[in-house]
Amino acid sequence: MHFLTVDNFYAGAKGLRAEFDANFADPLRTHAGRFVWDYWHVPGEYTHLRTPAYNYFSAKRYEAFHRYLVRWGREHLGCHDISPPWLSCYVEGCRQQPHQDLPHGPLAFVYSLTPRKRKFRGGETFISKPKSLIPPEYNRLTLFNPSLLHGVREVRGTHDPREGRLVMHGWFVNPRPFWTGPLTAAGVKRSLDRGFANVPFEKLGPGFGAFRLKIGRDGRVRSSKLLVETFKHSARVKEILLYLNQFEFGKIPAPATLTLPLRID
Ligand SMILES: [Fe+2]
Repeated sequence: MHFLTVDNFYAGAKGLRAEFDANFADPLRTHAGRFVWDYWHVPGEYTHLRTPAYNYFSAKRYEAFHRYLVRWGREHLGCHDISPPWLSCYVEGCRQQPHQDLPHGPLAFVYSLTPRKRKFRGGETFISKPKSLIPPEYNRLTLFNPSLLHGVREVRGTHDPREGRLVMHGWFVNPRPFWTGPLTAAGVKRSLDRGFANVPFEKLGPGFGAFRLKIGRDGRVRSSKLLVETFKHSARVKEILLYLNQFEFGKIPAPATLTLPLRID
């Protein structure tokens, strides 16, 4: 896959959006919530307003979102953490020219708080090759491979920040195995070291993928599936799953589930 979207991502979207709207409600009122924005303009690359998201929202509201996003990333991507997200606002003329994110985590995310009814044109996240255009739907999480050429189409049609493209964005980072059930860190490491030696991962080409293995009491893999991937040769994932199915983890008192992220450079 080149990108993945999850709609209606976060139950608290409304509260975050309301704080932003309140800060810009009266343009004649001066207060600290208005003075945090950086007009970030790198000629030929980026033009938008940005601010660290963790400073912008009230601590309680921001932390609840952050915790939810991190937990989601562990569960669905096997990525242990996220980079500190930016909050970016795009009004008339704002955009990101095609670029690659380096250095970066294995997956970039864009979480949109853009109004449900958009009054502007453009503002889609684009991936140049293969061509993909992803509109910033309200409460949508978009994930993509940040090593592909990508950007944001120029926003046209509004100067009002409350009508602009509003997104939190960053990278999922620190991929590492994550499990539920009575596995031990030492046991997992031993089994993976042994298992990995036989798997021809190079066939997948560069990219990232997260796999989920269900492990029975006998320590054998009951089932395996792919959660997400950005591999160059995605068609070969099926072959790799056959190898993962042969992994052994030793006897355990109850079944376990292992999420296994893999990054291939
Ligand atoms: Fe980027």
